[in-house]
Amino acid sequence: MNTKYYIWLGLALTLVSTGVRAETVNFDTRVNDLLSQMSLDEKIGQMVQADMNAVKDLSDIQKYGFGSMLSGGSSDPAAGNTAQDWLNAVNNFKSWALKTRLKIPLLYGIDAVHGHNNIDGAVIFPHHIGLGATRDAKLVEQAERTTALEVAGTGIRWAFDPCIAVAQNERWGRTYESFGESTELVSELGTAAVRGLQGDLGPNSVLACAKHFLGDGGTQNGVDQGNTICDEATLRKLYLPPYRAAIQAGAKSIMVSYSSWNGKKMHGNKYLLTDVLKGELGFQGFLVSDWAAIDQISADYKSDIEASINAGQDMIMIPNGPGQKNNYVDFITGLKALVAENKVSQARIDDAVRRILRVKFQLGLFENPGTDPALTAAIGSAEHRHVARACVRESLVLLKNSNHALPLAKNLKRLVVVGEAADDIGVQCGGWTIDWQGRAGAVTHGGTTILAAIRQAVSPETQVIFSSDGNETKGADAIVVVVGERPYAEMKGDRKTLDLAASDLALIEKAKAAGVPVTTILFSGRPLVLGRALDASDAFIAAWLPGTEGQGVADVLFGDFKPTGKLPRAWPASNEQLSTSAMQAGKPLFPYGFSLSY
Ligand code: BGC
Ligand code: BGC
Repeated sequence: MNTKYYIWLGLALTLVSTGVRAETVNFDTRVNDLLSQMSLDEKIGQMVQADMNAVKDLSDIQKYGFGSMLSGGSSDPAAGNTAQDWLNAVNNFKSWALKTRLKIPLLYGIDAVHGHNNIDGAVIFPHHIGLGATRDAKLVEQAERTTALEVAGTGIRWAFDPCIAVAQNERWGRTYESFGESTELVSELGTAAVRGLQGDLGPNSVLACAKHFLGDGGTQNGVDQGNTICDEATLRKLYLPPYRAAIQAGAKSIMVSYSSWNGKKMHGNKYLLTDVLKGELGFQGFLVSDWAAIDQISADYKSDIEASINAGQDMIMIPNGPGQKNNYVDFITGLKALVAENKVSQARIDDAVRRILRVKFQLGLFENPGTDPALTAAIGSAEHRHVARACVRESLVLLKNSNHALPLAKNLKRLVVVGEAADDIGVQCGGWTIDWQGRAGAVTHGGTTILAAIRQAVSPETQVIFSSDGNETKGADAIVVVVGERPYAEMKGDRKTLDLAASDLALIEKAKAAGVPVTTILFSGRPLVLGRALDASDAFIAAWLPGTEGQGVADVLFGDFKPTGKLPRAWPASNEQLSTSAMQAGKPLFPYGFSLSY
């Protein structure tokens, strides 16, 4: 520890004792002091965020003085995927940063977008669309607080969350990352998420990252990374308010969108990044680019660096290392040359680094480099699962309930559960779970499938039969069918049409033929075109992508909790209605806000 540290600590304690709250402490003096000691190389290093897989030689962290590293959706520690493996790996990366001359701590980031979802055994929460259905900002805050504790338990202090897209076309595969189609709903729950993650900015807090600025949910035909075509008034009315709200709630990092606005890539849009966001909205935090996204501005990487940094980008997310295209050494060399050529000003570099350092001070990274072992031990705990279960039961939207098919009695003689998805935690969690695109199967430890949750909920006398193909429904008193989308994430989840799979419809109709009440539970990242499935079901529950806590579904099925979820987006009657505007022009199957209860 250098002596400066003690002087500043003394000052901080004085401020606290004189009643100045820690978060209002102005770090400018400390930031400027540190900045004045930094060389250009050290400054540029702070602007680099390298993916863990890109860094083959860990001494590069010290050599280039990276300000940040991340794990992309499929980047895991070589040693394994447990919380302890993650903590060890992240601590190791951090230790290399502390070998640098100025010992500026490394800020590590990860896509904890529905819980700490890359880590085996962590609690997986419903995706945002499900949280949107809860309409419960307090609960969302608690969910994100719980996520923050699990993230901090692996030594990580930054989550690329919340996505505050206002998704307007559910053909977009990222629709489930959006809280809903309404700007107000997204603003309300987005700020709850920011508050939950960042808390009091104490040692257990996690830096939030509102994303993806701006208009990611408005691309034409819902194409991922596509083009949002609208006038500025619409852009400001529909997509900007959640950012204004997030900044007011204290969000200190924002990720820029791959998408374009009227044909211009957001990553090079100086007007929106600098004039609007940093100027008009007074954003004091820093901007991080998306995964290799500056590379898309033009065919020439050096011009991409110039355009993005001059547009106002402060930190660049770089998935590639030496030997690969557009890698972190290319970025460093390129930016250094641009400064020498006066194409990027020293002032712009200083502004970027000042923003990054300020956040590091605000998060207390200099003072609290370590991780409380109690946090690591609590990852996946019953207490955390309890919060997720509450989210699940509040997220379910009851779309139909003929003849009081629900709630089911707990003492039925024979309950038949149909559909592979009933016993598949991977399908239940969806994309961004363990792997980037998610995958079916037993992807993580802990958690409860719907089938297991039903078995736990019924009386000891009830026979629960699992018939994945629906062939063994004989003698059933009631049938629960679980169907839905297979996991997907960005890019791969885009669809032109969104019909419920024919095989899923067939399962529901086969169950219906048994002549007893059929309840359908749908797992999906968005409303699907249901066709005959609704008629063939007596009760129908939209369960979204609930995550690991299937008991929340059983809570509703058996009436321990009466459904309260409301549709976070209108439900299309046909494939012609997959966009919000099409539904506003016609008549959706179920309007925004629709809900039934018992
Ligand atoms: C996504 C971001 C994500 C980043 C890092 C990008 O492809 O668009 O949402 O945070 O990857 O994994
Ligand atoms: C990474 C993701 C990233 C994506 C973008 C994947 O390989 O794991 O995090 O968002 O690439 O192309």
